[in-house]
Amino acid sequence: MKLTKLSSALLGICIFTHSSVVTVNAETAVPYKNETSYSEQQVEELLAQLTLEEKITLLAGGDAFSTAAIERLGIPSIVFSDGPAGVRDLGSDPTLAYPVGIALGSTWNTELVNQVSAAIGRDARARKVDLMLAPAVNIQRTPLAGRNFEQFSEDPYLSGKLGAAYVVGLQSEGVGSSAKHFVGNEQELERGRGSSNIGERALRELYLKPFEIMLEESNPWTFMAAYNRVNGTYMTEHDYLLNDVLRGEWGYDGVIMSDWGALHSSVSAINGGLTLEMPGPGKFFDAKLAEAVKHWQVEESVIDEAARRLLRLAFRTGKFGKTTESVGLKALEDNRDIALKAAEESIVLLKNDQRVLPLNTKVLRSVAVIGPNANIALTGGGGSSKVVPTDIVSPLESLREQLPQNVTVTYAKGVDNDKSPPPAEGNYFSTDKARKIVGLSADYFANPDFSGQPEITKQDTWFEKKGFGREVYFKNPSFSVKWTGYFWPEVDGEYEFAAHGHGNTSLFVDGKAIYGANVDDKEWENLQDKPSKKVYLTAGKPVPIEMRYTKSAKTWPIFYFNVRTPAGAIEDAVAAAKNADVALVFVGSSRTSETEGHDRSDMTLFGQQNALVEAVVKANPNTIVVLNSGGPVSLPWDEKVPTLLQAWFSGEEGSHALTNVLLGKTNPSGKLPLTFPKRIEDNPTYIHYSGGRDANYGEGVFVGYRYYDKKNIEPLYPFGHGLSYTDFAFSDLSASVDTASGTVSVSVKVKNTGRVAGQEVVQVYVGDNEARLVPRPENELRAFDKISLAPGETKSVSFSLTKRDFAYFDVHQHDWVTESGSYRISIGSSSRNLPVSTSVSIQ
Ligand code: BGC
Repeated sequence: MKLTKLSSALLGICIFTHSSVVTVNAETAVPYKNETSYSEQQVEELLAQLTLEEKITLLAGGDAFSTAAIERLGIPSIVFSDGPAGVRDLGSDPTLAYPVGIALGSTWNTELVNQVSAAIGRDARARKVDLMLAPAVNIQRTPLAGRNFEQFSEDPYLSGKLGAAYVVGLQSEGVGSSAKHFVGNEQELERGRGSSNIGERALRELYLKPFEIMLEESNPWTFMAAYNRVNGTYMTEHDYLLNDVLRGEWGYDGVIMSDWGALHSSVSAINGGLTLEMPGPGKFFDAKLAEAVKHWQVEESVIDEAARRLLRLAFRTGKFGKTTESVGLKALEDNRDIALKAAEESIVLLKNDQRVLPLNTKVLRSVAVIGPNANIALTGGGGSSKVVPTDIVSPLESLREQLPQNVTVTYAKGVDNDKSPPPAEGNYFSTDKARKIVGLSADYFANPDFSGQPEITKQDTWFEKKGFGREVYFKNPSFSVKWTGYFWPEVDGEYEFAAHGHGNTSLFVDGKAIYGANVDDKEWENLQDKPSKKVYLTAGKPVPIEMRYTKSAKTWPIFYFNVRTPAGAIEDAVAAAKNADVALVFVGSSRTSETEGHDRSDMTLFGQQNALVEAVVKANPNTIVVLNSGGPVSLPWDEKVPTLLQAWFSGEEGSHALTNVLLGKTNPSGKLPLTFPKRIEDNPTYIHYSGGRDANYGEGVFVGYRYYDKKNIEPLYPFGHGLSYTDFAFSDLSASVDTASGTVSVSVKVKNTGRVAGQEVVQVYVGDNEARLVPRPENELRAFDKISLAPGETKSVSFSLTKRDFAYFDVHQHDWVTESGSYRISIGSSSRNLPVSTSVSIQ
């Protein structure tokens, strides 16, 4: 359903302080105007003009999401926004939601990732954002990690290549990036104080590797030091990793900022290599640093070096003397096509045993659309990366739009997959009784009691609101908002409603009071079970909704409105499946189950979802299951289901992308960027992951497919796997070593042997045939290329491998070592389907 917009005002991103909107425009005071290219001499000249206090001012945020400006010298404030799946608007205003990291990882398409991030860069510029806190390149080590969905892959090479492509795209638009979270932040459990204990070899070969590749290929303007400790030391004060490795060995000259609130010291952090404390105002990088300089705990040269890095960043933004120009909404609309393409290429066809896909609409007459995720748009995961989408379309709506008129579509939810009522879906509401405008109408008053004319009236489709209301906040920090409109029940049954906020909140459904309370911030956090009420409603009969919220001057504006729709019954889903040619079942994570801040407790689909799939496939053998998740889930019914797709959380074009794949308008080309194990117990981290203080990376370098291969454990779906509607054949692998340069030239032929055009990812793995010195993984991804082939077409694909591609990190020499001997080079379409292989001798 397309949204009709009442208001699309674009406003600055940080609302509760004025410093982010400082406009530095006094021509005379501005020494370097709009320069993105600059010289180190300019940096030094500027540095020489700063007092010690001013230098220290630069080293902590001016507010929650921007750096401090020094107006005297025209040094601008630099505005940040989260990432990575689009520009997160802190005022809960919509921006285009792109596929999340793992979905981009599944595209295995560097060029496309580059286009996505360039589009995000344009969105950022339109919102006056100078730097995106993205990309995230931590390794998907345990399937349970709450932020797996934000990261690209379990493989460091794939992560590094895609990360570099992301940074290049973003920075090509003049918007900075932040390589995060440096390093060892592979779980949420105890992320703020726990220590990731990682051996030197695994650290180098796996966890540092994506950052190293990114730095080599793209030079991110900033790095973000993670919350966690590594081997006992907080990353924000890790002298070895920040000073010796990142700045020393790798020669990084940019800003190293802290993750939000990750600082624990002043002296150790600045001496340890950190440059910027976030958020601001600083708690550690403040007057304490001046004191520390006075007492010789910190050399002034250390402060100079940090300030120098902030000045470089200011130059790189090209912002001296001006605020960033807006690119206008037209350009942003073009970005939707890129979001769609990325979503399409992210979808992984895990199996298509009976070739039911693509659906043949010439003979198809009826489809049963089933499951808890069928009629919601799962655009992203939870936490700081959450983007409020501009347009919400569920798979059910998209199928109804695109299937021919003569195909009957029935819908049954069957079961629920939410522990508590999920955030209300905007498309269940309309502002008017004719259902012309989606969402609720919101009146914002610059007073606490809804009196007089509203300052602004707008349409609202997103009801997880944090830090909202900037339209009225600056006029009166105690503002009020009233939402009105209609709720449209899809089916008969009990609907569970809840509305809560920091402040005075009330909710009326069909004129009846559902909830009313005045709660301050502290009480709200402690409110364990947020109260909700069930109301019986009839399908197609709209009921009026009214919500009121008053923010007191002291509270932080937070307002949530949640609705759980009736699950119905598995029997209804079975009946729908029985009467249809094809049953499409949408299961997986809900809007609330994968998020920053918490790991998952297991890999099991929540509630009765497995029972639903089993019952539907029994009723209709033409069952297609679509999974939404940000990582692997266990699929006990896998053998019984002939057709399975992994659709991740793929942004606001995700439902259209899926329909295009189901109907064969797009040939799927996504490949798993991680392994789906059969059971959580098969995963190498299973015996190491605990609730303790330490995250022990005891599996060393044997993470993901490196482990399953070594232990000869059959995964459910291997790393790199993904089918197409056509077939590909690999042949003529040749490899030759150039002893002088140490490079190995590899080439292979790939043919499309099927009847439709398609894309294949040519994956190159290297394995040490002898491995006399240390245990090595059987195969490691060292190169890949995504190619398009017309039916019958053959292409020759070439790669160049370097000495480092055959090396391991030696913990005695603290260096990369390539053992002389025989190495296997295998090429194919997944880590477990490598039809061509050859060996080379490396001396
Ligand atoms: C997250 C970062 C994010 C930052 C700012 C932190 O909690 O770990 O990824 O960029 O918040 O929102």
